[in-house]
Amino acid sequence: MSKSIEICEKMSSFNKKISVTSDKSISIRCVLLASQAIGVSKIYNLLESEDVLNTLKCIKKLGIKYKKIDGYYKIFGYGINGFNTNKNLKIDAGNSGTLARLILGLLVNTKKQVLLKGDSSLSKRDFSRITEPLKLFGANIVSKNKKLPVKIIGTKFLRPISYFEKLGSAQCKSAVMLAATKTDGITKIKAKKSRNHTELLFKYLGINIKTINKKNYDYINIKGPCNFQCFNYKVPGDISSSAFFLVLSILGKKSKVLIRNVNINNSRMGIINILNKMNANIKLKNKKIYKGEKIADIFVKSTNKLKAINCPEKLNSSAIDEFLIIFLVAAKAKGVSIFKNLGELNKKESPRLDIATNILKKIGIKIERSSNNLKIYGNPNINLTGKYIIKNFRKDHRVFMMSCIAALVFGGKWRIYDPSSINTSFPSFLKKIKFLGAKIN
Ligand code: S3P
Repeated sequence: MSKSIEICEKMSSFNKKISVTSDKSISIRCVLLASQAIGVSKIYNLLESEDVLNTLKCIKKLGIKYKKIDGYYKIFGYGINGFNTNKNLKIDAGNSGTLARLILGLLVNTKKQVLLKGDSSLSKRDFSRITEPLKLFGANIVSKNKKLPVKIIGTKFLRPISYFEKLGSAQCKSAVMLAATKTDGITKIKAKKSRNHTELLFKYLGINIKTINKKNYDYINIKGPCNFQCFNYKVPGDISSSAFFLVLSILGKKSKVLIRNVNINNSRMGIINILNKMNANIKLKNKKIYKGEKIADIFVKSTNKLKAINCPEKLNSSAIDEFLIIFLVAAKAKGVSIFKNLGELNKKESPRLDIATNILKKIGIKIERSSNNLKIYGNPNINLTGKYIIKNFRKDHRVFMMSCIAALVFGGKWRIYDPSSINTSFPSFLKKIKFLGAKIN
């Protein structure tokens, strides 16, 4: 792939039905859980992006075989003690925070040392949020400066823990849940709200889990050890990937899009709830439930009636990966939008709050930032004519895709670096926007 792309033309109107790539969070969880199941699991529609392919490579290094057949992956699990860790090993999570953190949860009982590394972006991210609770189970974990590489040697004497997850991080919650499946006794978790795919999969797999959902926190008890049988799963479309097309249509000219078969789990619905509060009028059709997950087709049209939002903080976690694209809607909405307590955005593949602030300023949007709060002064008549270069964003896939959408709806001449970043989550992104009519050089 070339080093950069150029977008110099706004999008013309479109009216299309599309599908997006499969959900990344569910794909990674399915592969990891299949690696722990007894027997041969079949995962259909698995997302074939770098984060998920790295998950497959990691389980293979740990002795788990897999095979790609037409339309699905077969994964050959040997139960919760099935990883082969009789010798020291190195595994590489690439760019994926989800893979790195969740797999550590599965390594709390390794026999020999496993060294986990990642790419340069992942190596800048905090791992103490996950190594601290996993040490409480009894695993020996060493990392320099709270970052990757992390070395882990498990223990035969795992003890259940009580853990308070305060960040609203599904990665931390899930890693502890996975460690709990290997541990004799009841692990108790009190967690700030975050996506609940792991809980739903545990319930579907018959793992011994009890959940109580209160207003601000979820209470989860897992009684281990829990062996479970192999399973079949068809991964639905990713709402985080859909978000770029929703905003392309909302901010575009007289356009409509229907996105088929997308996961609309409540804990991921922030983008739809926030955009609808801004008058976007996104509709959900053909709703169904699949193995505990909600799925629907999502429909939206262009509108010029967007209004600003004072975004309720309680929606932050359910839109955590979508704020970059939500900020573009705020940039065009009438009034001043307010977003509060978005510090977690700076803990992602790049410091997204800093980068988004810079991009919005670059395109002339008035912004006030105080600590992790943002005020965006919308301009309903925004129409850019300048030249914009977007580079040095730690190859963050979502920054690249947000910049493409900004170029296509606001105008101007844009050069956007690192198109290969999309391989992390959405390798066909450029093909899809071209299918809708985008002109990209
Ligand atoms: C994810 C959880 C979120 C999200 C990430 C995927 C997951 O991270 O940003 O893209 O699959 O559990 P945090 O748990 O760090 O908030």
